[in-house]
Amino acid sequence: MKLFKLIKHLKSKYLTKKERSQIKDIIRIIEISINKKFIFWENQEEIDFENIKNIEKICKMIFKLHFPIQYIENVVKFGELKLIINPHTLIPRPETEILIEKVYQIVENYQLKEKFKKIILIDFGTGSGNIILLLLKKLKHIPMIPIGIDISFNALQIAQKNSIINNVPIILLNHSNINIIKKNLCDQTIFILISNPPYLTKKEMKKELYFEPDNALLTPKKTFYYNQLISFFMKNKIQNFLLFFEIDQKTLKKIIPKLKKNKINYRILHIQRKIFLLEISRLKK
Ligand SMILES: C[S@@+](CC[C@H](N)C(=O)[O-])C[C@H]1O[C@@H](n2cnc3c(N)ncnc32)[C@H](O)[C@@H]1O
Repeated sequence: MKLFKLIKHLKSKYLTKKERSQIKDIIRIIEISINKKFIFWENQEEIDFENIKNIEKICKMIFKLHFPIQYIENVVKFGELKLIINPHTLIPRPETEILIEKVYQIVENYQLKEKFKKIILIDFGTGSGNIILLLLKKLKHIPMIPIGIDISFNALQIAQKNSIINNVPIILLNHSNINIIKKNLCDQTIFILISNPPYLTKKEMKKELYFEPDNALLTPKKTFYYNQLISFFMKNKIQNFLLFFEIDQKTLKKIIPKLKKNKINYRILHIQRKIFLLEISRLKK
């Protein structure tokens, strides 16, 4: 079949009128399958039967079963980073990029380099490493000990590859070793924790999210990870910390009364639609 006839056929078979803008995904699927970039396609190019079968199979997965095209491409752009991803890692979202920009501006304003001897940066639930790697690129003038933590060994392996290909060294830790971070602290140490933890309940799962890892999305209780992390820093009597969370509106409503009750210092910034940045701070110094 001729290439352009094939596109027409796929468009009418897989895209509704509303989805016509997804034609770029059809082109991308063909590019991947025939291993030839669009700009090199020829008008009269013939696609053989085997390739058409393959292309149809991928189209079905993407347009009918909602398998994310990013997992077929394996590489995504995130700010200035190129990141490897696979079905063990969440696909980095644009709102997380906005969140990182806000955190960067806030951290810059604190002038931590002048005030603290040791700055430990933690990304809890690091996944592909997108948050910590992009933040480190932006804050490269501040010397920090950067630690990415995750429960998934497969995700940690991907984060390690991303650290290498983007030339940003980080320490990677399995979540069960989180207590290591409390060693050798002094009152001139500050922790910056940034986290986009799982915050969806089973009821809130949408079919578009079906192929992303459950342990990246699902939480037993909306406030579960937030409470655990906040308690970890409050109870361990860590003197100086800035905690930054990506959080949805529903969870925020549940958490605010508790912060107020415990007189915890917090600030909220709007990110996008129902997503917010929650900042919690304790600065004794
Ligand atoms: C919403 S994803 C965030 C991924 C990435 N940081 C981002 O923002 O795109 C949550 C991450 O938390 C990890 N995670 C889930 N439970 C965890 C736990 N108990 N300890 C550490 N990481 C956990 C998941 O494996 C997943 O990578």
